[in-house]
Amino acid sequence: MKFFVDSADVAAIAELNDLGMADGVTTNPSIILQSGRDILEVTKEICSIVSGPVSAEVVAPGAEEMIAEGRKLAGIAPNIAVKVPLTWDGLKACKVLSGEGHMVNVTLCFSVNQALIAAKAGATFISPFIGRLDDINLDGMDLIADIRQVYDNYGFETQILAASVRNVNHVAQCALVGADVMTAPPAVIRSLAHHVLTDKGLDQFMKDWAKTGQKIL
Ligand code: G3P
Repeated sequence: MKFFVDSADVAAIAELNDLGMADGVTTNPSIILQSGRDILEVTKEICSIVSGPVSAEVVAPGAEEMIAEGRKLAGIAPNIAVKVPLTWDGLKACKVLSGEGHMVNVTLCFSVNQALIAAKAGATFISPFIGRLDDINLDGMDLIADIRQVYDNYGFETQILAASVRNVNHVAQCALVGADVMTAPPAVIRSLAHHVLTDKGLDQFMKDWAKTGQKIL
């Protein structure tokens, strides 16, 4: 499973990239707001750090404007994936932009049918939002599993990019059900290393080591 970093925090992205844990990056208007930076500038900087796909989202409501915005965003770097919303206009933009050879990430997916039509419109990635389904007492992971089955049934090549990943359990479950990619904030990716028994075991090893009076260096 590929790891994308759901952030525009350049320092955090660079650290994860150095560790081999940034196969790509996803952004959205909220993430750009949080960064406090200009979308074109920060996206260009991210693309210079990460060699994999970097999603940058259009904001226009209509297909024609989305296509124009998408072309401009795609001009930032060859590894841009243009992100469009899962609306009828977004699907029209997806079809045109993917037909021009651009990677397209169709976002805000909350149903299998939405994922099905995004694949038919040529999406490179489909982004189902797990956490936001959990928020309304549905099971976001069921949606990932259902899309996996439908895409496999018909051989769609659209990659399932599990988004709105909020915790380590989401990451493990994404890997178990076969998401192609999961995107998570840097803090969630870092917390994958944490385990209470690791901390407890290391604490004991350090106490015992101190008692030996030895040094390695
Ligand atoms: O990848 C989509 C993500 O940025 C949304 O996450 O936690 O706001 O639902 P969240």
